[in-house]
Amino acid sequence: ARLGVLVSGSGSNLQALLDACARADYPAEVACVVSNVPTAYALERARRAGVPAMALDSKAAGSRGAFEQSLLETLRAANVEWVCLAGFMRLLSADFLTGFPGRVLNIHPSLLPSFPGLHAQRQALERGVKVAGCTVHFVDAGTDTGPIVAQAAVPVLPDDDEASLSARILAEEHKLFPLAVRLAVTGKVSLEGGRTRVAAPP
Ligand code: GRF
Repeated sequence: ARLGVLVSGSGSNLQALLDACARADYPAEVACVVSNVPTAYALERARRAGVPAMALDSKAAGSRGAFEQSLLETLRAANVEWVCLAGFMRLLSADFLTGFPGRVLNIHPSLLPSFPGLHAQRQALERGVKVAGCTVHFVDAGTDTGPIVAQAAVPVLPDDDEASLSARILAEEHKLFPLAVRLAVTGKVSLEGGRTRVAAPP
């Protein structure tokens, strides 16, 4: 399966997907990487992996519609079948999502539905939860609200701060995203009534 990976920042989740795709038995390849931030280090990671990488500056694009139109054209031109949001910090409209119905996956650093939106790790610390984690979900027009594909949990330790908790969650993200993408692209995840039914991972 051909993945289009959208990024905005350092790209460590992109790197996890690139590393997974480098294994012969992994059923996907990264066809292109698009960043809305021209200076994102994630673009450097893509170039090092020999994957076509480009920036579509969402600020320069004029309007959200224009940005999403050029994004759709770029993904279609690369024959992308699945879109993976890997630290992509923009909401995508319902119009964009109709371009890839049921084919857009996002990773979020909390156990959704808890702590959607920004600074999820900080929200967890401030709420005083003892277990945190990350979620891969199908993207719908809401903010981190789509059907859940997979989750991983980590303990919150008494001396944790935002950095230590984020690092612990990020390590789990790097395992969870490739696993969830494998499940999705191999048809192991079905959507029924807004909920997913996931066949056992291999
Ligand atoms: C990750 O924590 C991801 O869950 C969140 O933003 C961070 C992106 O990190 N959406 P990276 O760019 O993949 O390193």
